[in-house]
Amino acid sequence: MSFEEPKLPKVIVALDYQNENDALEMAKTLSPDMCNLKVGLELFINCGPSIIQKLHNLKYKIFLDLKLHDINNTVAKSISAIGKLGVWMTNIHAGGGTSMMIDAAEELRKNRYDTMLLGVTVLTSLNNQKYKEIGFLSEISEQVLHMASMCYKSKLNGVVCSAKEAKLIKDNMPSDFICVCPGIRIKDSLNDDQERIMTPKEAAESGADYIVVGRPITQSNDPLSFLKIIKDEFENNFDK
Ligand code: C5P
Repeated sequence: MSFEEPKLPKVIVALDYQNENDALEMAKTLSPDMCNLKVGLELFINCGPSIIQKLHNLKYKIFLDLKLHDINNTVAKSISAIGKLGVWMTNIHAGGGTSMMIDAAEELRKNRYDTMLLGVTVLTSLNNQKYKEIGFLSEISEQVLHMASMCYKSKLNGVVCSAKEAKLIKDNMPSDFICVCPGIRIKDSLNDDQERIMTPKEAAESGADYIVVGRPITQSNDPLSFLKIIKDEFENNFDK
């Protein structure tokens, strides 16, 4: 009898640092064979685009997480500049609307950049109360699925969402439409500012393609061992 092996998520470590030295030191502590890296606003604003080349030199694939949200022309031109940096993945806010997303995706295609483009749905730092405060009336899950379908129609490669919504997206969208899930915490660890969290094992079982983990790894005493513990949690405990 044959059965399909479950598809396990890959880990993206968030390098949220204020300076290049700390970021490069962490990159050297980890390994490109075990994870990809995410450069977000904090590191990018502090160090500028040169940090990307330095991480590429260490053989890492980079997710440049700048969550662009502006008028179509500004986003498209900025996405073009991001594509030129040769990053593996980047993102824009789905809240900018389909025409903004279509123009951004078209800009990458037109210039033959192979950077994957994701849409940010509802931030994992928002719980139901904070989400309703913005003025949304629907349930978070409904809104995330709606935004995911906007991203799909706009020809994006996938979405950033909580692992809590990954199953819903996987059940309703084509399987190659990817879910990148931050808000990952090991049982009994600190939530920090995250609200819609899941453990690595739960995220794997929900169908997340990539999990983004920052502080639980970067602030641990032994980041490489902690990364191994996280990978172990879904690789050896996955409910088949
Ligand atoms: O430290 P922690 O694991 O909470 O880091 C999560 C990372 O993922 C942060 O860099 C944060 O900016 C990013 N992120 C997120 N929620 C989103 C999109 C990105 O937490 N919806």
